[in-house]
Amino acid sequence: MGDAVAQVEARFNEEIDSVSDAEMLEAFRVRWFGDKAGLINKGVASWVRELPRELKPVFGKQFKNFAGGVERTLNERRFEIERGKDFHSSSQLQSSNLDLSLPGIRRSVGVEHPLTRTMREMVAVFAALGYSVGVGPEVETDFYNFEALNFPPNHPARDTQDTLVVADQESKPLRERYLMRTHTSPVQIRSMVANDPPLRLVIPGKVHRNDESDATHSPIFHQVEGLCVDRGITFSDLKGTLDHAMKAFFGSSVKTRFFPSFFPFTEPSADVQISCPFCGGNGCRKCKWSGWIELLGCGMVDPAVFQAVDARRVENGLAPAFDVPGISGFAFGMGVERIAMMKYGVGDIGQFYSGDLRFLDQFL
Ligand code: DAH
Repeated sequence: MGDAVAQVEARFNEEIDSVSDAEMLEAFRVRWFGDKAGLINKGVASWVRELPRELKPVFGKQFKNFAGGVERTLNERRFEIERGKDFHSSSQLQSSNLDLSLPGIRRSVGVEHPLTRTMREMVAVFAALGYSVGVGPEVETDFYNFEALNFPPNHPARDTQDTLVVADQESKPLRERYLMRTHTSPVQIRSMVANDPPLRLVIPGKVHRNDESDATHSPIFHQVEGLCVDRGITFSDLKGTLDHAMKAFFGSSVKTRFFPSFFPFTEPSADVQISCPFCGGNGCRKCKWSGWIELLGCGMVDPAVFQAVDARRVENGLAPAFDVPGISGFAFGMGVERIAMMKYGVGDIGQFYSGDLRFLDQFL
């Protein structure tokens, strides 16, 4: 019985495939679904007659499925034919070279660049702690980039941050000469010159250095800087804040550890390592089998920085507000590329700037 139904269905499908216009469709409908002479009704009548009584309900059920299916196919075909008629009767479409069999045009959806994304995510961690976002110019004066940050003229600490300088400025005092900023730290100074404490700032931005390009260096890269100044800020605040931030960014099981270091604008200074978020500290390729990854520099704001800030405030007609008993602060800075390379497993920093869609597509 089932076979017989399947055979009829196959025939139905074969015939309906050759129906190409409304007239043929109507003839087809009458032939199959006509009240008396229609194949479906006629077929049922003759089959049912021959069936033993106990098989009749079983057949009834199978037949209902079959009839429902073919009717749906017929309706779909009718819809296709009518839609086709609409298209073809439109003179505009007829005269154009529109080929409806071509695949559609897929618009590519843009995504945030992995560096922008890393910066935004890091900024969000500090924004949640009440930090405001600070910005400053990429073309900076020697004063903000170096002098106020306690890199005196000709001091060897400047050698670590060589950069492009704007030409023909020899007639100006050194501190007023323009250069491409080598770090986001000058925004600390600008912010303190312009605002009274308390201050909590996170500063994302682009920086420039005379560094040879290689797999991990680029003469242009990005940093996220932080500054917190208030009454009675201590090194414990610094440790607590950075420990929280690293957990918020990399996951709550990440640990931090602090090592003595040197930056001219902080005293004491520290380098911060986090336990490897990929292997949990057991050692893997990403942490070079040490279980730890060095991620940022930080420290307590050096009094010399507060003095430079206040001197500039006085020049600008503002009251000194930072080199004041009871006021202290911490600062930190980290490289965005380094973090993004580690997080996304990027082996060559140049990929970030190549504009190669095959690279960028991976961040969809
Ligand atoms: N400006 C430093 C650099 O580019 C990074 C840094 C270290 C920033 C320590 C800080 C800090 O604010 O406290 O190498």
